[in-house]
Amino acid sequence: MKKNYYITTPIYYPSNKLHIGHSYTTVASDALARYKRLCGYDVMFLTGTDEHGQKIERRAEEEKVTPKQFIDNIVDWVKDLWETMDISYDKFIRTTDTEHRETVQKIFKKLFDQGDIYKSEYVGLYCTPCESFFTELQLAEGKCPDCGRDVEEVKEEAYFFRLSKYQDKLIEHIKQNPEFIQPQIRQNEMLNNFLYAGLSDLCVSRTSFTWGIPVEFDEGHVVYVWLDALSNYISALGFMSENDEMYKKFWPADVHIVGKEILRFHTIIWPAILMALGEELPKQIFGHGWLVINGGKMSKSKGNVVDPSFLVKRYGSDAIRYFLLREIAFGQDGNFSNEALINRINYDLANDLGNLTSRTVAMTMKYFENNQLQEEQEGNEFDAQVQTLIKEQVELMEQNMEKLYLNQALENIWVIIRRLNKYIDETMPWVLAKDEANKAKLAGVLYTLSEGLRIVSVMIEPFMPQTPEKIWEQIGITRGQYTEWETIKTWGTLPKNVVAKKGQNIFPRIDKDKELEYLDTLLPKVTEEAPKKQSSKKEETKFEEISIDDFFKTELRIGEVIECEKVPKADKLLVSKIKIGDEIKQIVSGIAMHYSPDEFVGKKVIVVNNLKPVKLRGIMSEGMILCASDNEGNLVAVGPLGEMASGAIVK
Ligand code: MSP
Repeated sequence: MKKNYYITTPIYYPSNKLHIGHSYTTVASDALARYKRLCGYDVMFLTGTDEHGQKIERRAEEEKVTPKQFIDNIVDWVKDLWETMDISYDKFIRTTDTEHRETVQKIFKKLFDQGDIYKSEYVGLYCTPCESFFTELQLAEGKCPDCGRDVEEVKEEAYFFRLSKYQDKLIEHIKQNPEFIQPQIRQNEMLNNFLYAGLSDLCVSRTSFTWGIPVEFDEGHVVYVWLDALSNYISALGFMSENDEMYKKFWPADVHIVGKEILRFHTIIWPAILMALGEELPKQIFGHGWLVINGGKMSKSKGNVVDPSFLVKRYGSDAIRYFLLREIAFGQDGNFSNEALINRINYDLANDLGNLTSRTVAMTMKYFENNQLQEEQEGNEFDAQVQTLIKEQVELMEQNMEKLYLNQALENIWVIIRRLNKYIDETMPWVLAKDEANKAKLAGVLYTLSEGLRIVSVMIEPFMPQTPEKIWEQIGITRGQYTEWETIKTWGTLPKNVVAKKGQNIFPRIDKDKELEYLDTLLPKVTEEAPKKQSSKKEETKFEEISIDDFFKTELRIGEVIECEKVPKADKLLVSKIKIGDEIKQIVSGIAMHYSPDEFVGKKVIVVNNLKPVKLRGIMSEGMILCASDNEGNLVAVGPLGEMASGAIVK
């Protein structure tokens, strides 16, 4: 019988649009879900949206729509995004679903009836963006300890959950089950920062706003969003409903994957609620790190968010999934930069994997009739080493996947890919091909490469679901008997007389300089958020010495801005018509944060006039306006100090 596996992601809070950091949680969970399916598990993978709370109510008010209307739009966008990112969820739960509401109401009532929830008065501090209560002591310099924003003082009649009652039981459970909170370092954090410090009862209802699940037996109270949200993990399975087959089948969850900042809710409040309900606790809660920009969390208020749909459209979902899962050591923070992204695509995907595929296929087609390897094959002195290495790396990958070390699992695959590329250099098929007597040896080499590639293609599938099919097409197989997980443990599964077929280049190389220039106008530059230390480093950058001839290669001229407007859907860009002598040029510049189009018209500026034209956001730009900028983010366009006609040369 198939073994069950239940994996969940945090349900996304749709107060703003999702950014690439949010999609990390879901992509990581998806890779695990796909891996487990590949290994033969019956998987239930849950994701969704967490739709209640004061923040959403306020956002909807601002937009003059109902909270439900406000959310519906965002939910559609989230679902589309998950589709383009190949998120293979089995269920998408919305906390506004009727079934969920009914379950939460039943949970609240049961806990109230048995005395685990009681009525009292809440006086305290509340962080609306985080939907969290704090005591004075928990604040960090008077601000929310999670997000650093202001908290509000609130006083209202409220229901409380007896969290304190479960403190000792929780400590005991955590100690008895070292796998319960992972990575280990987070377990210590939870024990030392919260559990040993002592738990207070938790306020679980609100009366100062209405956008929430009503407490059935007390009008005016809505259920605290975290009690509402956490319950999704069991309401999605039909807990306390007429049809709880799924609950019986899948609960307890094998793993809740969550970001580190919400681990506290998942490892303290959630287990305590489950204990009170008399239900089993999840087997594991894994707290992953953040995708950061120069050490700071991405956030809309900092203006450093990166839009995942843009990246997926430009580079493809597999490349973005690969980047996210490779760049962040699971459990730790990882840095996002445009350069890191392009490097990963060029080095790991285009060079390592792309070249291995295209070389293997091209040589099979070139050296063998009908593109088919002959069955008579001979080995060489490198074969045993390659086969042993593959066997070892497959085992290591399995171990890493069990521990959720996704980036290390990817590294295991790349060890194989790099070894196979080295094998090409060692065996030099192009030399073997010169002598007909070596034909069997040549066939042996190409078989090793094709079989290695097959194994690699199966291993990458959980991370990059689209790429394997492209490889299979080129080595003449389809999904099925050669692509199941167990088959990669038996060397020689691929038929000897493999037929190669030329296919598309799976990851074309990107012109890095050009691409970075383009991306820097759209995505946050790494330096924008750089801490002071790095800024001063930047100031110290020494330019290479150039000759006067080098300098004169740059044609600098005075230009006059005669028209200017914002580039649609690009916050930072202005497009200007610049008069340079008798000529009028169109130039796109990343200065919209510093100049409004109106104030820029009429300015005299210095233009690089012989720059190769490029398209930015689909708009042709035929030069560059010189600007001075400092490390504090200030920027000014540079112009002549006295009167000077447009078109005049600057040197
Ligand atoms: N609604 C709650 C979860 C309730 S689960 C019962 C929530 N939502 S969220 O939209 O704010 O965050 C969703 C997930 O995205 C969280 O796991 C959070 O840690 C993750 N991330 C948000 N920004 C992130 C990065 N920059 N990097 C990695 N993950 C981050 O919390």
